[in-house]
Formats: sequence, C-alpha cells, structure tokens
Amino acid sequence: MKTQVIIPLAGSGARLNAGTPKALLKLNHKLMALYALEIFEDCGLVDSVVLVTQKQFFNEWLAAVQAAGLKKVKRIIEGGVTRADSVSNGLAALDDDTRIVLIHDGARPLVTGQLVSDAIWLCHDYSAVIAAVPVKPTVKQADTRTLTVTRTLDRSSLWEVQTPQVFHAEVIKRAYAERGPGTAALFTDDAVLVERLGVPVKILMGDYKNIKITTGEDIVIAEALLSGLSAEGSNGQAIGK
Ligand code: C5P
Repeated sequence: MKTQVIIPLAGSGARLNAGTPKALLKLNHKLMALYALEIFEDCGLVDSVVLVTQKQFFNEWLAAVQAAGLKKVKRIIEGGVTRADSVSNGLAALDDDTRIVLIHDGARPLVTGQLVSDAIWLCHDYSAVIAAVPVKPTVKQADTRTLTVTRTLDRSSLWEVQTPQVFHAEVIKRAYAERGPGTAALFTDDAVLVERLGVPVKILMGDYKNIKITTGEDIVIAEALLSGLSAEGSNGQAIGK
C-alpha cells in the first residue's frame, strides 16, 4: 500500500522571534526540518515525501535535499496562508495510487522512526491515527477578554495532540474537501476535520520529547534533546543517565 508523507513547513514563524523564517531555522547548525526528513528517508514503510514551503525557499530546500541525499522527497510545493491551506496543497500533490497519508509538522524535529512506524501500522486498522500525550499540567478555560477562569477541565481526559497524524487517503481528502470556511484557529490539526465527518480518530501514545518548535525557548530545549540523541547514537549511552 503506497504511503506518502506531507510535511507542512510554510509557517512564518512569527511567534519564534528568531529573525529567521521557520523554513530556514537551524537547530544545532542543521535545518530543523531535515531531522524529520531523515527519519522518513530511513523508514521502510514510507514511499515518498511532499515538502510544503514558501516559494522563495524552493531553491534552498532543493539544495538541502540534494546535499542530504534525501531520495524520497519527490516534490517541493508552495504552502498557503494557513496550515490547513498548506496541507490542502500537499493533498492535491499526492500520487493517485496513494492509500495512506502521513502528515507531520516540519517544526517537530524530534519525531522517532518508531513512532512513525507504529502510527502507519495502526492506520491499517483505523482510518485516522494521531500521536498524542496525556496532558501534564492543570488546564483551565478562561474568558479571553477579562482573563478570568470560566472552568477547570478534567485533566484525566485531555490529550495534547502531536504529529504524525496518519489517515486513509480517501478519508483525509474527503475531510479537506468538506472543510468549508473556517479560521486557522479552528483547524490547528488535520484530525479535527476527520472528527467533523464523524469518523473515529484513534490515539497512539506519542512522545513527550516530540515537541513543536513554536517559541524561542523551544529552540533551546530541542537543541539540548537533539544533542542528547546524537550522544546516545555515538556511544550507545545517554548523557546524564
Ligand atoms: O502554526 P503552527 O505552529 O501550528 O504550524 C505547524 C506547522 O505547520 C509548522 O511546521 C508550520 O511551518 C506549518 N505551517 C504551514 N503553513 C502555514 C502555517 C503553518 O505549512 N500557513
């Protein structure tokens, strides 16, 4: 069954305040999205990858993909105004015979091969699978205008959603085709559109290290975690363990 990956990487990175567009952000001197792209390159269950970014970065990304020897990145296409627009462009660029679609944020460099494989395998039994982790802090809902608490949510039923998110191609295409008008704030992940179809979305235990690079402090945390991983890889032992 043909499996294609869509990597949305067309965010402006406004919340990062790093002075660098998110698509060209480097972590430990390496383009952030290369970390995930290498995981997909090495995953035997993935056939090819569609990278979605801004047009002005096509050349940089073409060069980076070639320099890194990434053979599975078959297309680099233009993103849209919102994340959902970017994913929608990615869906339109998929091959006709693709049956499984994995969507992974380019801003999550700490995804593991194990999580990717587990999510794809689980998608043989479910038409929508999302990685997520149980919420650790207490979460309250507040009136955004007055900043007063309106209610405290039951933490035991709350999950923080990550990517990868994996779908049967016909389901995610239908979900996007029927998405209708909506703001970026409503469509912050892909599964929400599948939920609207009434299709069950299965949760796969994610990884607390699989953080999304959104604000400046995430860069510091991710670089530390990535250094730890490469130290593990080089001498078989994790630093500080
Ligand atoms: O904005 P957010 O942090 O949710 O973005 C998640 C991912 O979606 C990032 O990898 C970002 O580059 C991507 N994105 C996109 N097109 C947009 C906005 C975000 O591809 N218009």
